[in-house]
Amino acid sequence: MLEKIQKLVKKDEKIAMLTCYDATFAKLMELAGVDILLVGDSLGMVLQGAENTLNVSMHHMTYHTKSVSAGAPNTMTIADMPLGSYEHDNEAAYKNAEWLIKSGAHMVKFEGGGKRVETARYLVERGIPVCAHLGFTPQSVNQFGGYKIQGKTQESAEQILNDAKAMRDAGVSFVLLEMIPAALAKQVTQIVPTIGIGAGVDCSGQVLVLQDLLGIYNGSANKKPEDYKAPRFAKNFLKETNSIESAVKNYVKAVKNKTFPAIEHSY
Ligand code: KIV
Repeated sequence: MLEKIQKLVKKDEKIAMLTCYDATFAKLMELAGVDILLVGDSLGMVLQGAENTLNVSMHHMTYHTKSVSAGAPNTMTIADMPLGSYEHDNEAAYKNAEWLIKSGAHMVKFEGGGKRVETARYLVERGIPVCAHLGFTPQSVNQFGGYKIQGKTQESAEQILNDAKAMRDAGVSFVLLEMIPAALAKQVTQIVPTIGIGAGVDCSGQVLVLQDLLGIYNGSANKKPEDYKAPRFAKNFLKETNSIESAVKNYVKAVKNKTFPAIEHSY
């Protein structure tokens, strides 16, 4: 599976990735040509109605990973490692990553650079493919003080570039970049293959949360829909068509022909 995606990167074809949490959508996405399915811990928000991803557990992640891999057996699946499952020690990180792989994931993703570089190296050396997640990392939302663009100052841009280099040297397959300036994402992409969300069109690929693509997410369960403001990087692909299948196909097409993300979806 990974080889197929690496071939796309080599021939400069953009990777189309979407979040997915169940077998029905997984099957639909596989048939629509989505390259990678991400079982994201965003399920805490879009499936469970929470305000953030902080209470997602390994049990939630393995349950949804099994469903997704059952629905799309021929598509590469990446599973998020939830908060608390990889930070304490590398052995525990390995055990949890192994659980996700045994649930059907082909790769795991976790957030952060710095100390997480050694975690990435530890997993890769033991045969577990890793995607690092840099820029805005939702599990640190309290530390960031909200959903804020990262890498705007020279210091934080350098930090992201250094983390990306260290992650590449540790053997990660991809770096997911969330909410950083497009120009910085372009520089990171020269170091290591990237998947962007709110990181501009020059990443090696793009990811969107399924509910954003369908335009159906309007905030956490405890908030009024009218108080919700969709992030700049979200695009409702269902608005332009009359079926979910076509919306997903149009997303794949738009990523491949580089019409998504447009400047209005980037920082
Ligand atoms: O959990 C998630 O959905 C993510 C996004 C950045 C796509 O990690």
